[in-house]
Amino acid sequence: MPKILTIFGTRPEAIKMAPLVNALSKNNEFETKVAVTAQHREMLDQVLGLFQIIPDYDLDIMQHGQTLNQVTSRVLNGLEGVLSKERPDLVLVHGDTTTTFVSALASFYQQIPVGHVEAGLRTDNIYSPFPEEMNRRLTGSISNIHLAPTAQAAANLRKENIEDNMIFITGNTVIDALLQTVGKDYSFTDPKLIEVLENDSKIILLTTHRRENWGQPMKNIFQAVKELLSKHKDITVVFPIHKNPQIRKLANEILGNLARVVMIEPLDYQPFANLMKKSYIVMTDSGGMQEEAPSLGKPVLVLRDTTERPEAVNAGTVCLVGTDKARIMEQVSVLLEDQEQYRKMSKASNPYGDGRACERIIGALSYYFGTTDRPDDFHQ
Ligand code: UD1
Ligand code: UDP
Repeated sequence: MPKILTIFGTRPEAIKMAPLVNALSKNNEFETKVAVTAQHREMLDQVLGLFQIIPDYDLDIMQHGQTLNQVTSRVLNGLEGVLSKERPDLVLVHGDTTTTFVSALASFYQQIPVGHVEAGLRTDNIYSPFPEEMNRRLTGSISNIHLAPTAQAAANLRKENIEDNMIFITGNTVIDALLQTVGKDYSFTDPKLIEVLENDSKIILLTTHRRENWGQPMKNIFQAVKELLSKHKDITVVFPIHKNPQIRKLANEILGNLARVVMIEPLDYQPFANLMKKSYIVMTDSGGMQEEAPSLGKPVLVLRDTTERPEAVNAGTVCLVGTDKARIMEQVSVLLEDQEQYRKMSKASNPYGDGRACERIIGALSYYFGTTDRPDDFHQ
């Protein structure tokens, strides 16, 4: 029976790998093991708890203020023993974090094949997002199986001469996670959120954490939010702040003590996804939220200059606004004041998946190990 070791370390990887780990564990064709690097700690543990995943290995590498080099060396050293002890037939990694790339590298050093989930996204600018664009490319170069979420991602891989037979279009597992998590009857328990949801104001859900936005770009974002709050009395901004201390300091300086800003700890995925569903507009530099919000019919203003997720921009539900204060204010104001524009951007679309990505990935793995035919592709 093929042994598959899944490795992940941060919140978004965990959310996107959790439904796959659970589907693999229920499948008696494979032996399944899980190793977490814990590049994130609390934000990872929230997801492990929600999806009831108990890892077989936990490298526990996170340190406050960690640098890229520190994460790289801790993951590389930590995985050496795990991989030589387990000798899996395949390692599965996800996406574009430093955990992703280094786990692929550590596997390569022991000549263990790698499957890359969420393969093929590209901006074609190695510094944006940084270091994720390069992490994803390097992981692709090492990988043997490429699980591309969309046709566009698969086309990007073909351009790089990746063997066509090893590219599978699966949809994104984040939609599987979202559909398993968002429910009509969800009841919020956080008193701050209950209060916001009970008043009549429009909720703007804000998140920001990208490295290339640290410093002035993030300052611009917070200043735009501050001015929007004084211009529009009918909005409340809910901002679950990433654990990174740099971001917290700046957010508190500019937005601390302002009325109608609710700054809270990162939310568990279940309340967060359900809050996204109740929001009016999403403002974010997150990758995953650009995939989730369109399927909930929420307009997304992306606080970045590039995106490796063009599908929702083409579908009209995501707009790339960048980090210029005036442009952010203008775009939010348009959505608040122009009903027609809001309606156009808030129509639900599912360019990223149909909730069957895990099933197709498992089909691709069975095909790779020679036990089934090729699975069908995801079509947008
Ligand atoms: C990482 C990923 C990024 C991903 C993001 C998702 C890299 C290089 N970056 O960025 O691709 O989009 O995660 O959120 O792989 N911290 C805590 N507790 C936590 C998590 C983080 O305290 O649970 C703090 C720590 O001080 C840590 C800092 O945040 O040192 C930064 O974490 P790190 O994983 O290095 O970078 P992110 O910005 O989270
Ligand atoms: N998310 C969450 N709680 C929060 C903020 C975000 O569960 O307080 C989820 C969100 O729904 C998405 C993922 O975390 O699935 C995005 O993670 P993040 O923005 O940290 O990383 P990125 O997607 O940019 O890699």
